[in-house]
Amino acid sequence: MSLLRILFDSNPRFALHLPVHGRGEALPPRLKDLLHRQPGCWDLPELPEIGGPLDVDGAVAESQALFAARMGVDCCWFGVNGATGLLQAALLAMAAPGEAVLLPRNAHRSLIGACELGGMLPVFLPVPFDEDRGHPGAMTADGLSRSLEALPDLCCRLAAAVLVHPTYHGYAAEIAPLVDRLHARGLPVLVDEAHGSHLAFAPGMGLPPSSLTTGADLVVHSLHKSAPGLAQTAVLWQRSTRISSTSVRLSLQRLQSSSPSALLLASCEATLDWMLSTQWIRILQRRLEQARRLHECLDRHGVPLHESDDPLRLILNTAAVGVSGLEADTWFMNRGVIAELPEPLCLTLCLGFARHRGLAARLRHLWPLFIKEQGRPSLAAVAAPPLDSVQVAELSPSSVAHRPSLELPLHQCADRIAAEMICPYPPGIPLLVPGERIDHLRVQWLQLQHRRWPEQVPGMVKVLA
Ligand SMILES: Cc1ncc(COP(=O)(O)O)c(C=O)c1O
Repeated sequence: MSLLRILFDSNPRFALHLPVHGRGEALPPRLKDLLHRQPGCWDLPELPEIGGPLDVDGAVAESQALFAARMGVDCCWFGVNGATGLLQAALLAMAAPGEAVLLPRNAHRSLIGACELGGMLPVFLPVPFDEDRGHPGAMTADGLSRSLEALPDLCCRLAAAVLVHPTYHGYAAEIAPLVDRLHARGLPVLVDEAHGSHLAFAPGMGLPPSSLTTGADLVVHSLHKSAPGLAQTAVLWQRSTRISSTSVRLSLQRLQSSSPSALLLASCEATLDWMLSTQWIRILQRRLEQARRLHECLDRHGVPLHESDDPLRLILNTAAVGVSGLEADTWFMNRGVIAELPEPLCLTLCLGFARHRGLAARLRHLWPLFIKEQGRPSLAAVAAPPLDSVQVAELSPSSVAHRPSLELPLHQCADRIAAEMICPYPPGIPLLVPGERIDHLRVQWLQLQHRRWPEQVPGMVKVLA
């Protein structure tokens, strides 16, 4: 089927995936108005009155300055290449080639890409792993303190640190003390808040705090994963004297398109403006209440769920009824429930900001059928990876990129250096990074992962020759 045929297909299904505007329903009203105009009228170049994210004049520059002021930060840049583009630009602004950066083990693969582009050496900090859920949790302040005490002597300067808050599943990190502890070590902090944009626009709603209010130097928000904008839109905020806005600007210039889409830039503006309105507060409150009621209702009807700090993420514990999240995803998709994140032990649905009328009834109806057709004894937990200590990549990903490599079955990879990334997507969290030495325990764990999701974790890996 062609892409266009799929996009023309208006089959009304439960869109519980990213982007979280629910097939357009929750897009900001001003953006919907724009999209109702003559198709293409919004597809304009950087005309003098429009400009772009890096210009000092023009509507985009004015908008960015206005939002920076409204959010009480120093600078704001719109992004049209996802959180990926902004995270990479931000990290490249913080560290020079040959320097090291602290990355949590649950860092998104875009940050490894940044290390490769910028010749930085990643130093990995452990994060908790939940064996019953089979995925990482959020970093704790005590865990970070232990990691910082255990940091080995590095062959190069440690320039910056990155945190993820909240995680894909909505698990919140102890963000304020984490940022404080890294600052106390003299490190500027970039927070990947791709899944937590709404936290900064939810005063008094009982959600975890946004890192924008807890002292982070740079924060990246995805405006389509946790805000109701179009896919690919994102925003980078700066509140810091530790990083110069000139270096961020230069870094953005290196990576961003010289023809950013006016539609996507308009989506950034409309989304932030909408989230700062009083109507948004009411909508978000309603969505959170509906989400909490949905969790309670499913719980009452015996649907096993895992808890999250974000009510808008619904994590079905499919392992409890003996089914992997990957099989469950296919089963539910065939019945019109399109989830976001299938994993070996669970299936995560993103409720987002659309209304999803009838979802509780649909899930209550489907769950007993699902158990009847697919149910088996519960699945075994996934053992935690052998990544519970600070680990420094032996080589930087950039120095591995052009070296001769060979592909070997996993069991022959022990004591070799990885020449490629192993990274199930979603969630885009690497299980192995180029430049890391693979020990026996890692081989065993990767073999286990390969058995759990063979399509995502290959049985052959490229290693340095
Ligand atoms: C934590 C996290 N950061 C960054 C990204 C990249 O975002 P985007 O796909 O908008 O580039 C993702 C994507 O899944 C993510 O999960």
